[in-house]
Amino acid sequence: MKIILGPSSKELGEKIAELAGYEKVPVLSKIFPDGESYVRIEGSVKNEEIAIVQTTCKPQDTNLVQLAFIANAAKRNGAKRVTAIIPYLAYARQDKMFLEGENVSVETVATMLNAAGVDRLVTVNIHAEDALGRFPFPAKTISAIPLLADHFVRKGCKEAFALAPDKGALYIAEQAKAVLGGECGNLQKQRDRYTGQTTQSAKHLDVKGKVVIIFDDIISTGGTIVGAAKILKEQGATKVFATCVHGLLIGDAERRILDAGVEEIVSTDSVPSKNSKVSLAPLLSAALKAH
Ligand code: R5P
Repeated sequence: MKIILGPSSKELGEKIAELAGYEKVPVLSKIFPDGESYVRIEGSVKNEEIAIVQTTCKPQDTNLVQLAFIANAAKRNGAKRVTAIIPYLAYARQDKMFLEGENVSVETVATMLNAAGVDRLVTVNIHAEDALGRFPFPAKTISAIPLLADHFVRKGCKEAFALAPDKGALYIAEQAKAVLGGECGNLQKQRDRYTGQTTQSAKHLDVKGKVVIIFDDIISTGGTIVGAAKILKEQGATKVFATCVHGLLIGDAERRILDAGVEEIVSTDSVPSKNSKVSLAPLLSAALKAH
């Protein structure tokens, strides 16, 4: 197998290739003055099994189009099979028609990638696993939560309380609890489908005097974490950390979260930033090796 280093995940792709012992293939990419993308694979892919590592965080559309172009270039240049390693899969949250007149974005993205030449896909903590059923090729998601929890164990937070900010993320808190060895629980979150506004509420949680780590798949505007941190402080948590797989951290999200009394934000390199303190490379290289 050879690893194509997609422009949005060059560093992560290099780490995966090194850990797995696979050859790296660079890509030349550029954006034309009118905003269109250009890519060129700079190495041979003929008769090879290829994995392209390309995350699709902001700018999502450019990163997605570049991934499709690279997959197409790989196939045109003789690649046998193309696996897309997409650490953060854009548009995965629109995985059904919530309101009449909508589309199912994640299905459209998968269909587009398939048409371009992608034969299978590996992603990390897709927002809802059911969405994989909409893909026209084999697709799997792997969880980085044990890696994040292990990071906190190594920081001395063993037995911290793992909190999910909504019921849908309780499985995430349960995965974290299995590593941390403490307790876990969840808040309730309701979203208005028209305005996008969310409200959070909590039953009594056993967090008084405890270190609490909020685990989520995504931090976007930070509103969910800010609301959760406020509830945790009111209920007597001594220290609150926030961690997620995909740290989109839009606008002033980071500042708002820290202002809400959160000690630190920890995310993975699915979305590269200064908060990416945990690398997905061991997880993704092991997943490739296992295939
Ligand atoms: C939603 O259900 C997700 O799991 C996250 O909780 C959400 O995307 C976080 O968004 P924000 O940071 O904007 O509150």
